[in-house]
Amino acid sequence: MIYFDSAATTFQKPPAVAAAVWDALATMSSPGRGSYAAAARAADTAFQCRCELAELFHMGSPEQVAFTMNATHALNIAIKSLVPPGGRAVISGYEHNAVTRPLAALGAGVTVAAAPLFQPDRAAEAFERLIVPGVDAVVCNHVSNVFGFIQPVEAVAALCRSRGVPLIIDASQSAGTLPLDMTALGAAFAAMPGHKGLYGPQGTGVLLCGEGTPVRPLLEGGTGSLSIQQEMPDFLPDRLEAGTHNVPGIAGLLAGVRYVRRRGLEKILDRERRLTRQMAGGLREIPGLRVYAAASPCRQAGVLSLTAEGMDAETLGSALAERGIAVRAGLHCAPLAHRTVGTLDTGTVRLSFSDLNTPEEVDRVISVLRVLLKGTN
Ligand SMILES: Cc1ncc(COP(=O)(O)O)c(C=O)c1O
Repeated sequence: MIYFDSAATTFQKPPAVAAAVWDALATMSSPGRGSYAAAARAADTAFQCRCELAELFHMGSPEQVAFTMNATHALNIAIKSLVPPGGRAVISGYEHNAVTRPLAALGAGVTVAAAPLFQPDRAAEAFERLIVPGVDAVVCNHVSNVFGFIQPVEAVAALCRSRGVPLIIDASQSAGTLPLDMTALGAAFAAMPGHKGLYGPQGTGVLLCGEGTPVRPLLEGGTGSLSIQQEMPDFLPDRLEAGTHNVPGIAGLLAGVRYVRRRGLEKILDRERRLTRQMAGGLREIPGLRVYAAASPCRQAGVLSLTAEGMDAETLGSALAERGIAVRAGLHCAPLAHRTVGTLDTGTVRLSFSDLNTPEEVDRVISVLRVLLKGTN
């Protein structure tokens, strides 16, 4: 199989990840629930993972790193900590349902900051006049999961800081690929999956909590700390982590984060960019294919969307699957992004890359698409 669906989850993981999951199942119990060796080993693994993440994202302390089930869970905590029912939020035109649905459930008034099409570098201009007193939170994804556009979170963060409005960054598609300095940005939260660019197992996610940000638990329950008290502890990460941890997942995530740090963000981004450029270049030569990419290549990450004349996205996605090529077709849980670009009626076929893909795989997919689309236009 050629796997080009890493924007959903990185299915191909570094071998150390599976080994770490297996080791955790064989040797670890529950962190913070005992002082015997198996519990201490689990606690140490969780702590090491927090430390690696805190260093990667420039957090003040490892305690500001909370484990979640996925990015959706992390975004729910972030949004519900800051936006009260009926509150106000400003979001980018590329947000995922993991942002828009919690806001809808809160009955929040949502304003969309729409950047000029294919010019994500100008997103901050769109936010400029919308970040005003009374806005409870701004939510901006770092990279669009549909189009791969890189949004200028640094400029949006500067606007938020100057206007005193908290910022939530959805780093689902950038964590492990693009740098994110939480201390310099002063963001309230950044949410991310462990299972995409950080190469951890499915069922892992991370919420980075900015210094002094008020945090509201989504779940209440046992934390192994302050057990006599009936309110959740007021300190991090315990305040946000009720119940038994996903220890095998966290152990795998630790191995994934160590892979990313050893390899280096620059090298990973460079590889994904090269693959993306190679794919876009090859696809543009196929008549009837439309490739959606940012006007400036430095604003494009390793995700590409396309539509084909004469073949709908689902049919094309299935045809590729039949030929052993894994891509995603449809709306990718982000109807807002499609509305912004004008592909809501058709959806797109999405090709997304990881550090473990190769140029040969890209060439193969280009030639399969050339043959598939020959008779359609
Ligand atoms: C931009 C973005 N936000 C949020 C999510 C939700 O991630 P998860 O499936 O880990 O909850 C995704 C997943 O595709 C995403 O791409």
